[in-house]
Amino acid sequence: MDNSGRRTFLGVCLGGLAAAVTAAATWPVYRYLAPRSTATTAARVEIPEKDVPEGEAKFFDFGGASAVLVRKPGGGLIALSAVCTHMGCIVQWEKDTQDFLCPCHGGHYTADGGVISGPPPKSLAKLPFIVANGIITIG
Ligand code: FES
Repeated sequence: MDNSGRRTFLGVCLGGLAAAVTAAATWPVYRYLAPRSTATTAARVEIPEKDVPEGEAKFFDFGGASAVLVRKPGGGLIALSAVCTHMGCIVQWEKDTQDFLCPCHGGHYTADGGVISGPPPKSLAKLPFIVANGIITIG
């Protein structure tokens, strides 16, 4: 192999290595921010009431996507999709301000899922639930 051939071979190897390193570094970030699935199958999830104290949020899997239960100050419960309506990132509960923040582009939602600010075009989707015998059943 002459010098030109070695350079070409080395260039191909380095390009492949760079692509592999980039994929390995970005995949965990993508998996964290992206919805777990686009599955549309219905689900039924049971969560003990005691697992959602006042002012707290509990995230859970609902039909392959992230969802969240919030117990507002005063005791009111709400169940929401945790998937941001802008580009599908998973929102985070901000306990201090009792609202949701999307880490991707700064979308801001109320505890009820309404849009406060940022790019989200609509509210977080509400999920149906019932409470009986100390168990919250979503779905
Ligand atoms: Fe949530 Fe863009 S994906 S603000």
